[in-house]
Parts: sequence; C-alpha cells; structure tokens
Amino acid sequence: MKSAKAKAHTNIALIKYWGKKDPKLFLPMNSSLSLTLDAFYTETEVILDGNLEMDQFILNDEIQGEAETTKISNFLNLFRQETGILTPAKVTSQNFVPTAAGLASSASAFAALGAAMNEVSGMKADPTTLSTFVRRGSGSATRSVFGGFVEWQMGTCNEDSHAIQIDDASWDIAMVTVAVNTGKKTISSRQGMQLTVDTSPFYASWVETAATDLVDIKQAIRNQDFQQLGEITESNGMKMHGTMLGARPPFTYMEPTTIDVLAAVRQLRQQGFEAYYTMDAGPNVKVLCHLSDSEKIQMKLKEAFPNNPVIISKVGGGIELLS
Ligand code: ADP
Ligand code: DP6
Ligand code: CO
Repeated sequence: MKSAKAKAHTNIALIKYWGKKDPKLFLPMNSSLSLTLDAFYTETEVILDGNLEMDQFILNDEIQGEAETTKISNFLNLFRQETGILTPAKVTSQNFVPTAAGLASSASAFAALGAAMNEVSGMKADPTTLSTFVRRGSGSATRSVFGGFVEWQMGTCNEDSHAIQIDDASWDIAMVTVAVNTGKKTISSRQGMQLTVDTSPFYASWVETAATDLVDIKQAIRNQDFQQLGEITESNGMKMHGTMLGARPPFTYMEPTTIDVLAAVRQLRQQGFEAYYTMDAGPNVKVLCHLSDSEKIQMKLKEAFPNNPVIISKVGGGIELLS
C-alpha cells in the first residue's frame, strides 16, 4: 500500500470563469484570474490498495455514494491513463470550507486530490502540468495549484490550458467573507454556467468584456493599483451574475441578505475604506480589502450582520504535500 496526503487552498476569481468551450476537456470560454485564500482549504489523502475492489471516497467523515465516487474515479482515471498504475484508491478528504456553497470547495478539492494522486502514483508532474490535470476535475481547481494572484490561461487545447502565478500578492491584501448561507446550492456551478452559455443573450458580451477586464486587472496588479484592482473585480463579478438573469429559465444565486451586504460594502467605501465585493456561484459575499483594514471591516460587517459569520482570510499559497 502506498499513500500521499496533500493540502490545497480555495481561490476566489476576480475575473471569473463562467462557461466552457469544451465541457469534456474543461476548456473555458475565457481566461480568468484569482486570489488564493489561506483561510479555506481541503486536505485529501489517497491510499492505493490492491485489496480494494473499487475506489472508495470518504468526504468529511461520510462514505460517499455511487455518484460522488464515480466523479472521483473518472478524475483518477486521467492519472491512471498516464502512469499505467491501475490500483484502486481509498480517498479520504476533509473540507475546511463549506461544501458546494459558492465558496469554491471544488477548487481546493480537486487541486488537493490531484496533488496527492500525482505523488502516490509516481507521476510527479510539475505544477504547471499538474494544473492541466486538476482542471478536468473542476475548472476553478486549475488556479488552486498556485498561491497569490493566479491566471488560468484558457489556451487552445488540453496541454496549454493551465495556470500561472502572476504575482505573489504579498502586498497589503486580504479577503473578508460574509457567509450569507453555507447550505448546498440547488444549481451547481457546472449546471449554472452551461445554462447561461446555452440560453443567455448577454453571454457573448460577457466573454468579450472579460478579455479586456483581464488585460486591465493585470496592469492594475503590476502597478499595485488597489482601486483599479477593486473596481475591475466588482464590475466583472456583477457582469457574470447579470448573465444569469438573462438565462432561460432565469436564475440567480443572490439572496435578500446578499443585496444588503453589497450595499454595506459600498457604505464602507463612503467611509473611506478601499473595499470591493465579488461573489461566486452562491449567495456569499467576498470583500477584497487591505489586510491592515480587515479587522475594522470585519467589526463593521459583524455589527451590521450579527447573525452572519464574517471571516478574514490572508493570501494563501499553492499546493502542499503533507505526507
Ligand atoms: P463550490 O462553490 O463549493 O465549488 P461546486 O458546485 O463547484 O461548488 O462544486 C461542489 C462539488 O465539488 C461537490 O458537490 C462535490 O462533488 C465536489 N467536492 C467538494 N468538495 C470535495 C472534496 N473535498 N473532494 C472531492 N470532491 C469535492
Ligand atoms: C463562479 O470550477 O466550480 O466560481 O469547472 O464545472 O467544476 P466546474 O465549475 P467551477 O466553476 C467556478 C465558477 C465561479 C467562478 C470562478 O471560480 O472562476
Ligand atoms: Co466550484
């Protein structure tokens, strides 16, 4: 029996990935850019065990059923095709982030699983190549291989659609999360983006403007221009959410409290804080701000939303092997 255990952090996109050009290979419609978060992560152990009849998957201490286990098997098969090592695996994973709530559990999940399988199978791909493998578990996982600001370059094929670190984000940056609802969403990211691609008339302009947003945000990062960084982040995120209202049937991940949090962040700006919001496929709000302001911002948001957890995160690093 051989085993390996790895840790990966979640990442929150500032320029979003929302839609696939090739759903089988997980090639995205546009390149995206994210910030890796220290406070939210997944730890996953893979044991290769010749005595097992088939793969086993345990998530947060619960044995998973056929549908979830098949997803894991399909992903591990990518590594098996490459290495020729077909031994069944016992996969044990713990999320230190709510699962399927729009807080990017699929990103840390597949980055951690891929990193552990890369080690235990002896494949030992370099991080860039590994990012092309984990992409096929969940697109957002591509970016979780690295820390700081990370770009997922959409590329043209399986081999060149990968992540690169743009900047280690070691300047005065944090993200504050306001948890509005950490329950499991009813429309997964995968379903939501496909419905949008297939039916929303706003989709074409989303793709078009995401390309210029990416150029502009990379310039802002180079200049360490926080205001530009925040304004582009806010605009890009809301444009993505706008595409969903154009879908048929229309849908949204926003809840009433979400809207109140967005207003509270605008109010923080009026009070002089550089704070900007973004949201993923879920009702929770992430606030991009200076680390040096983050405790004050946390206090003010706690005051306004006493029933909602408000969590500060520093910038996170890339995948780590734990054993
Ligand atoms: P999220 O916003 O959390 O990323 P998604 O809809 O993108 O939501 O993905 C959630 C799915 O990711 C889960 O339903 C499950 O299939 C998978 N997932 C989450 N955590 C893990 C984990 N630790 N290991 C393997 N798969 C996971
Ligand atoms: C809104 O990576 O979860 O968080 O590739 O189908 O697994 P699949 O979807 P996923 O989608 C993430 C969507 C997003 C934006 C982003 O992270 O870029
Ligand atoms: Co996800």
